[in-house]
Amino acid sequence: MAETERARSGGMKWLTELVNEWRAAGQRIGIVPTMGALHQGHLSLVQAARAECERVVATVFVNPTQFAPTEDLAKYPRTLVADLEMLAAERVDAVLVPTEDEMYPPGFSTYVQPPEVSQKWEGAVRPSHFRGVATVVLKLLNMTRADVCYLGQKDYQQVAVVRRMVADLNVPCEIKMCPTVRDPDGLAMSSRNRYLSKDERQIGLSLSRTLFAAEKQIRSGAKNGPELSSWMREQLIASGVSQVDYAFAADADTLEPLTEVRLPLVLLMAARVGTTRLLDNLVVRQG
Ligand code: PAJ
Repeated sequence: MAETERARSGGMKWLTELVNEWRAAGQRIGIVPTMGALHQGHLSLVQAARAECERVVATVFVNPTQFAPTEDLAKYPRTLVADLEMLAAERVDAVLVPTEDEMYPPGFSTYVQPPEVSQKWEGAVRPSHFRGVATVVLKLLNMTRADVCYLGQKDYQQVAVVRRMVADLNVPCEIKMCPTVRDPDGLAMSSRNRYLSKDERQIGLSLSRTLFAAEKQIRSGAKNGPELSSWMREQLIASGVSQVDYAFAADADTLEPLTEVRLPLVLLMAARVGTTRLLDNLVVRQG
């Protein structure tokens, strides 16, 4: 915890020294980047890192460059004290909680142009989002010199974007995708779920319900991609979501929409329930 506290008080130099020590000792470093407001989904990533790496660094930074001016940056939940307690209980070696100024000092002007796979789905709805994600993740990987970066399947397209970026830019870091953690009723855990009223939460359950039902249809022989996509959209609307941003069957690697169902595929969806935006997805593999 002492190291955590020192990291919190703004020690980039301290982090560099620590990371250099670890690397000199030949220790494998895992990083879990987060925006805080931690829940079991985040902690599952920390646990995977803890199981596989000698050193684990978690980062907590609500990254302004991935929010559009119209989005919820100001009201994004911030629960740092509880976050640090949870991370200490998971025995992380350091927590990096940089200030906005440390990440983006005056004069900052270099950004990652995100790969092609960032253009559709989330990228179409949130045009500058993945530019901000790619930029901050690359900075965090450089700062921590991590060997492995743990990301959640919950943000499937984000994993695809980061994977392509590290491949394209020769970043010596392995990207591991960890399964989506769900509440017992099926709702994918998200920091934004706390905004849902009781009724909205009921409506929010339609996302996972629809994904699992669509998987059943595929397993029983559904072949037509666009029909499956329309069916998912209809299910969401019938359940009372305010808006469907997208609901699609896509190739699991390229994320291109499928005209004919071909495995492995990913069912991707984003919908608004009241003013809260919910994302979910399900990968359907052979067998
Ligand atoms: P954030 O939304 O805080 O998520 C941090 C990590 O936790 C991401 O890799 C996300 O996919 C994962 N995660 C969230 N909910 C999860 C769940 N229910 N099950 C499993 N993993 C889950 O994603 C971001 O922050 C940011 O874009 C970031 C990568 C930190 C860059 O700013």
